[in-house]
Amino acid sequence: YIMAGPSLAEVTRRYAALTGRAPLPPLWALGYHQCRWGYQYEAEFRELAVRFAAADIPVSALWYDIDYMDGYRLFTWDRVDFPDPAALNRDLKAMGIRAVTIVDPGVKREPGYAVYDSGREQVAFCQTASGREYVGKVWPGDTVFPDFTLETTRTWWAGWLTAFLRDSAVDGVWLDMNDPATGYSRTEEMRFSHGAIAHDRYHNQYAHFMAMASQQACEQRDPEGRSFLLTRSASAGTQRYSAVWTGDNASNWQHLRMALPCSLNLSLSGMAFNGPDVGGFMDDTRAELLVRWHQAGCLFPFFRNHSIRHSRPQEPWQFGPGPLAAIRGAIHTRYRLLPYLYQCFFTHWRDGDPVIRPLLYHYTGPEYVDLDDQYLLGDALLVAPILHGEGQGPEIVRADVKMQERSVRLPPGYWFDLNRGEWVEGGRLLAYAAALDELPLFVRDGAVVPYYAGLLNNSIMDWSSIELHLFCRKQSARFEYLLDDQVTRRYQSGAYGVARISAHLVGERLTVAIAEAGAYPQDTVRFIPVVYGRPEVRELEFTVNGRTITRPLQTEQREWLCRKWSVRA
Ligand code: NOJ
Repeated sequence: YIMAGPSLAEVTRRYAALTGRAPLPPLWALGYHQCRWGYQYEAEFRELAVRFAAADIPVSALWYDIDYMDGYRLFTWDRVDFPDPAALNRDLKAMGIRAVTIVDPGVKREPGYAVYDSGREQVAFCQTASGREYVGKVWPGDTVFPDFTLETTRTWWAGWLTAFLRDSAVDGVWLDMNDPATGYSRTEEMRFSHGAIAHDRYHNQYAHFMAMASQQACEQRDPEGRSFLLTRSASAGTQRYSAVWTGDNASNWQHLRMALPCSLNLSLSGMAFNGPDVGGFMDDTRAELLVRWHQAGCLFPFFRNHSIRHSRPQEPWQFGPGPLAAIRGAIHTRYRLLPYLYQCFFTHWRDGDPVIRPLLYHYTGPEYVDLDDQYLLGDALLVAPILHGEGQGPEIVRADVKMQERSVRLPPGYWFDLNRGEWVEGGRLLAYAAALDELPLFVRDGAVVPYYAGLLNNSIMDWSSIELHLFCRKQSARFEYLLDDQVTRRYQSGAYGVARISAHLVGERLTVAIAEAGAYPQDTVRFIPVVYGRPEVRELEFTVNGRTITRPLQTEQREWLCRKWSVRA
């Protein structure tokens, strides 16, 4: 295939059109996720929910790594540690916290274990050239591998997984070890189609077919709803079934820095829904690193804190009140911006633009070519996280507060600095110092950013009122806010509308017009304008679906909103 651009954006969109675009996730999957290899008891999960609430940090999902299983047998629970998983997960869900369980491909090779017996009966497992079951060594010991390239195996797998999700009240599926990892056994001996097809033919698609079968299970379980899956391995097109994370990174600054180009490259390669293990998976993290990692990742498409067993715990509260406050600020920033993030996912699904983008996606020039330490969320928000620790780079002390400094490449035009609440002129490299609780964040002049101003209570949110933050210093602003039920897959058959938003400055007046069209009922969302303009702008004319209100703009209100943006607030 040859994709003729000419622009990077056109190449990316065409590639996405060819391989498929990520569907809209359930809203909860866009929130903050807490995971750790080592969570092992029901009491720990209940305690996590309590700790998050006490820390005033929303969390949308808690994750079960391999320890929930009975001897690492797929589709089972250790009933001593988790006497009633469905009840636990239903209790969590009532608090707005969803459950995601890990599901590896490897099935324990144990006659008498129902999953193994039924797979054997269906001839569902990969074989060697001589027609024997291929046996690997993974967590449960001797392990066999479903041959997901066979439709019959996918149906068999989906049957088991559907029942497991339903019976355990689990909402999301985490596909791991699907590279496939086979331990000490020689992977190349694993063949497909009852031993007829050599390993290398499908090695790179093993995870792809597993994701396909697993998504089938999610859809069987909830025929109208949206599924959430996360996979470690993937191939071109896997984005249609699953989000991707970047695998086992380590808790160090270099891996934090690498997270940006990794996620940006995945984004350009069609994998719109992706992110790293925040905080770093291997080794012990430290306070400052954990904070900066949360800031760098809080606007990535996928946002999950995860760490390896026996490492130093790295939940947001593990390093005392200062780091906790800074991490809380980053997580709140994400929840406040969820409506904008959701719109980015929506336009990805519709048009193929990635959710996060390197600056090169929108701006041309040699200065953007190797720029991989800052990124754009959509086309409006520029994120330039601090990626070094104390003593590793430029730093200053301002009013007794230590700040790390970095340079930020601001494209031409005006940008609104959401920490300081002021406009800065772009077209230059800006030296920017940020205290531990600050994430350098800029919005381009001419942007509209939908913002959630309601209560923060895990994944429970009411999006019937949405603030539209209008950034108009010199530029007019335009935005398409896509409207749908946010729960079902009906948007895929066209059941969505669009609110076309435009804002123009004329003298002292800002004129904002919203017109809704398309296959979605009008006025389901109450839009509330919030203006980031110039001091001379004193009046707002606001028209929604033909109804106009004109009113004065209050300066105090504007100032308050600037401060509200600060992660310190
Ligand atoms: C490897 C995965 O990459 C990691 O995230 C997970 O915690 C371990 N397997 C244990 O399941």
